[in-house]
Amino acid sequence: MSPLRPAAAIRQELGAAADKPHVAFALARLGGPGSAQLIPTPASVLDLDAFDRNVAKMASRAAKAGLALRPHSKSHKCAALVRRQIEAGAVGICCAKLAEAEAMAAAGIGRILVTSPIAGPTNAQRAARLAAELPDFRIVLDHPDAAAELGEASQGPIQVVIDIDVGMGRTGCHDPDQAAAVARAIAAQPNLKLLGVQGYGGSWQHIEGANARAAAAAEGMAKLTAAIAAIRAVGGNVQVVTGGGTGTFEADAAQGVLNEVQPGSYAFMDKEYRDALKSDPDGAFEQAAMIVTTVISANHPKWVTLDAGLKAFSTEGPMPQPLTPRFAAATYRFFGDEHGMITRPAGAPVVRGERLALAPGHIDPTLDRYDLMHLIQGDVLVDIVRLEARGASQ
Ligand SMILES: Cc1ncc(COP(=O)(O)O)c(C=O)c1O
Repeated sequence: MSPLRPAAAIRQELGAAADKPHVAFALARLGGPGSAQLIPTPASVLDLDAFDRNVAKMASRAAKAGLALRPHSKSHKCAALVRRQIEAGAVGICCAKLAEAEAMAAAGIGRILVTSPIAGPTNAQRAARLAAELPDFRIVLDHPDAAAELGEASQGPIQVVIDIDVGMGRTGCHDPDQAAAVARAIAAQPNLKLLGVQGYGGSWQHIEGANARAAAAAEGMAKLTAAIAAIRAVGGNVQVVTGGGTGTFEADAAQGVLNEVQPGSYAFMDKEYRDALKSDPDGAFEQAAMIVTTVISANHPKWVTLDAGLKAFSTEGPMPQPLTPRFAAATYRFFGDEHGMITRPAGAPVVRGERLALAPGHIDPTLDRYDLMHLIQGDVLVDIVRLEARGASQ
């Protein structure tokens, strides 16, 4: 297996990070047989072939359903992986925050929808700058004052999408009258161009059982349909109807309200989604992302200690799940900030230095703890990429 690019190109992209001894050590082994086993741990690692298969599968599901695919980049925050998603057919990406969009824009990604509303003139100015610089920038808003702020900050046209609360109560217009009021406020701003609506049901994604998820989505899509009617009734344009995640793809495709979907986790998967989706078609994705750890102490008769603890994984949601086959039935527990505990499996004794891979409980906040991701094919390290937008929550 050959590296995706020469070590010198990676070094140049990583900048100062490439000089850190643990990164330099991994880079020096790039492309070598067994190099995947030599990455200093804890490390975020991506099985690139599994990632590409997941990306291709979602692209083909979306194409078959006639849905535009705009993957959410909040899961990985990595421009190199976005490029692979776009090459496979994605129309652009979603970013959760302006800073995420700014990092993606700086890395050359030009088609971005920001999926969280913003507040205040400073943020409106940042959005206006992105709209002026990028070929296709879009941002959601859920209040008439947001339209006024954006209009005031605009230096030219800004494409906007009205965020509709489809049941979660986090952001979005709560009822059709609020949606109509936002549409009117947008129409009053000559530089704002209304593209359509967003309706994202975050609280449905992990409901167990395809029928129960579809029922929750149907209720939310009825709310979205009512909001669309109210916006159209005041002359608002609704071409784009965007929303949806990994867990509701089948329901979204069947219900036919959305014409663009925003799944993110499907490309990597995590324990939380695995538990919820089981063998449903929505769960038919491989565990491509993992955190690789090393056994640093193996003296206790019942468990061994790993170098990955509270700082290596997100701590809400289910515990990380061992992926390495001989640990499949073993249980991982946090063992403090820096350490994890894993029960000893049956069979040959676990030895100091043994490595093991774990699926994160929740992928997005776990990857947000890592500056870099190691791409592997089989047992070969083929690239190291920056997670440029990691930590970019402003
Ligand atoms: C607005 C929005 N769209 C899409 C997604 C992607 O969801 P998932 O990672 O569950 O596929 C998220 C994730 O939180 C989101 O906030």
